[in-house]
Amino acid sequence: MQRIPKAEYARRRKALMAQMEPNSIAILPAAPVYIRNRDVEHIYRQDSDFQYLTGFPEPEAVLALIPGREHGEYVLFCRERDPERELWDGLRAGQDGAIAQFGADDAFPINDIDDILPGLIEGRERVYYAIGCNQEFDHRLMEWINVIRSKARQGAQPPNEFVALDHLLHDMRLYKSAAEVKVMKEAAEISAAAHVRAMQTARPGLSEYHLEAELEYIFRKNGSKMPAYGSIVAGGRNACILHYRENDAPLKDGDLILIDAGCEIDCYASDITRTFPVNGTFSSEQKAIYELVLKAQEAAFAAIGPDKHWNEAHEATVRVIAEGLLELGLLAGTLDEVIETESYKAYYMHRAGHWLGMDVHDVGDYKVGGEWRVLEPGMALTVEPGIYIPADDERVAKKWRGIGVRIEDDVVVTKTGCEILTGGVPKTVAEIEALMAAAREQAA
Ligand code: GLY
Ligand code: MN
Ligand code: MN
Repeated sequence: MQRIPKAEYARRRKALMAQMEPNSIAILPAAPVYIRNRDVEHIYRQDSDFQYLTGFPEPEAVLALIPGREHGEYVLFCRERDPERELWDGLRAGQDGAIAQFGADDAFPINDIDDILPGLIEGRERVYYAIGCNQEFDHRLMEWINVIRSKARQGAQPPNEFVALDHLLHDMRLYKSAAEVKVMKEAAEISAAAHVRAMQTARPGLSEYHLEAELEYIFRKNGSKMPAYGSIVAGGRNACILHYRENDAPLKDGDLILIDAGCEIDCYASDITRTFPVNGTFSSEQKAIYELVLKAQEAAFAAIGPDKHWNEAHEATVRVIAEGLLELGLLAGTLDEVIETESYKAYYMHRAGHWLGMDVHDVGDYKVGGEWRVLEPGMALTVEPGIYIPADDERVAKKWRGIGVRIEDDVVVTKTGCEILTGGVPKTVAEIEALMAAAREQAA
């Protein structure tokens, strides 16, 4: 299935080339294959920038964009067809496929890159390249440049400037097209269904990994190749570890469980967090903290839209959470003092969100010219306030200790505000309790 049309990749390449200075070349390598142990590889995931410009899914490939090149501006180096290797490892597009299926103007075997790429760079004034992201490739690029330098006496002209390609590209990636939003919605809907299933399955006596399995079953069953990041399934006090990874503790009656998990579809991420009671019913303290986080999230949604800047949503969550913690007696002082001294950070220590796209913590600047970025339609972000009361916090009454709540949804900025992509999972206390009660009834 071609979720991002070929024409859109072509538009992206054109848009990038239009921003490049005259007489330049852009060079981007595909993601390397990472070894897990001995001869076992990690599941291959294409580099997001490379994917954004090519849609080409294979490793051992290099893209060169050469505006104005007579024999074609879009050049792809990739693996040659090889029946024996393909028998073992899977099909390859080869050079013909790179042209026919992926729209390359010209394609060469990756094994010939040392002979061909210096010739393509030679005579170009500037090289657009993401320096410092891939040490091995940095080194190879310098070798190709040195090949050109070594021929200076024969009239070869090495480039004079290196320009950060990632900056141009990451600004483009920040604005999602209609096709991208559609893929992100698909990922969001699958993740929402997975969270619903986890809520329906939860009960005391299971372990965190049982719910992780339910989530990932729904991801995979709906065509997602992998989660967009390591799923966090954190029962009780484990919820206070922000990026908890073990996912192997038993789920206890009376505890909450925090699940932060989202699938990836065609290299587009979703990122949802829900927190709910293992036994299906919130205690009054859990409910108080939960409803405060929910109120903060609602305030954040209202602070997202064109003409509002990036930090407004965060500021809205800080105000609501600070007020609420004061009311509950978990913080002391006045609201102004709590905000001024940042004493709220003892319980709300992270930001209200991040850009979302091909990377879960997506690319794009949060400040422009020293000022918070003003939001524009097509930008996608998460909204994820939380409150975490450490289990050993002696400043607060015992009944509050070890409660950790985060609620996270994905939104895209629209002309009038924002659209929530992850609305398919219950969020109010009443909705969650009703869903879990219905599941228990069915199981009985
Ligand atoms: N899942 C990581 C985050 O929410 O930022
Ligand atoms: Mn997030
Ligand atoms: Mn998350």
